[in-house]
Amino acid sequence: MSKKSMAFFQGRYLPLDEANVSIATHALNYGTGCFEGLRAYYNADERRGYVFRMADHYERLLDSCRILRISIPHTVQDLCDITLEVMRQNHFHEDAYIRPLAFKAEPVIKVTLEDIEDAFGLFALPFGEYLPLKGIRVVTSAWRRIDDNAIPARAKVTGSYINTALAVSDAHAAGFDDCIFLNPDGHVSEGSAANLFMVRGDELITPPITDNLLEGITRHSLMVLARDRDIKVVERHIDRSELYVADEVFLAGTGVQVVPIVEIDGRRVGEGQEGVMTQSLKAAYLMATHGRDDRHVDWVTAVEPA
Ligand SMILES: Cc1ncc(COP(=O)(O)O)c(C=O)c1O
Repeated sequence: MSKKSMAFFQGRYLPLDEANVSIATHALNYGTGCFEGLRAYYNADERRGYVFRMADHYERLLDSCRILRISIPHTVQDLCDITLEVMRQNHFHEDAYIRPLAFKAEPVIKVTLEDIEDAFGLFALPFGEYLPLKGIRVVTSAWRRIDDNAIPARAKVTGSYINTALAVSDAHAAGFDDCIFLNPDGHVSEGSAANLFMVRGDELITPPITDNLLEGITRHSLMVLARDRDIKVVERHIDRSELYVADEVFLAGTGVQVVPIVEIDGRRVGEGQEGVMTQSLKAAYLMATHGRDDRHVDWVTAVEPA
């Protein structure tokens, strides 16, 4: 990460290396923060970046804040304005990732959510592929996905990513690229940091949002793009063994984008390479994110030079 990156912290635009906190910060000790991850895609033809579904990410951030009893002095519109200003000050000529973070900031030793001062910061950095877009090998994790009655999965809570990190590290140690989480009830929930889709016949199937998943913005975008193409989209529980007999399986998220899964638990998925529906939805998604889909221009916001 470039030390020269510009960030926003506690009401000011400043260099990222000056946006620091104390080791006594509540969120650092107890994981009491929530965040978002947005992408800005650089459109080389137009020589400008497009932030994808910016307001939707901030609606979700404010929902996460509500669940964690965090209050920040910014509306969705303020957060969009701050994002565009940070993007402008960074002058990116490549794809970028934007990380807003709201957290319990006071240096207090007390495990609770109320009566603790909150803070908000945002930084952005150049960002390429998070996982190989050509396809990945995954394993079903022995760790279960956090349950809504333990740590709400629909909130993007900093502390809950311990669940992710444990599972991903074990998957890497076993020689896999990533993992799939099952719910406490044994149904498929999602990938480590992305939602999951399966293709069986001509149906696109994904678990319902009540299956302990993050209510993914990419997930929603792909469902819309699939319906635009008259593909039948079904939300229902998925058994682990169904993934073994699926025609195609892929992950979808802001970070991963659309990544085909070519092997699960040592079993080849379909033909062992990116499937036709995955390929077509990935192409549709990348068109939309770059501001090249006329039906969904409202999903992107251009970063206009200052
Ligand atoms: C746990 C988890 N699930 C799903 C997703 C996908 O959500 P979105 O498409 O909104 O980025 C993410 C974030 O990228 C995530 O961290």
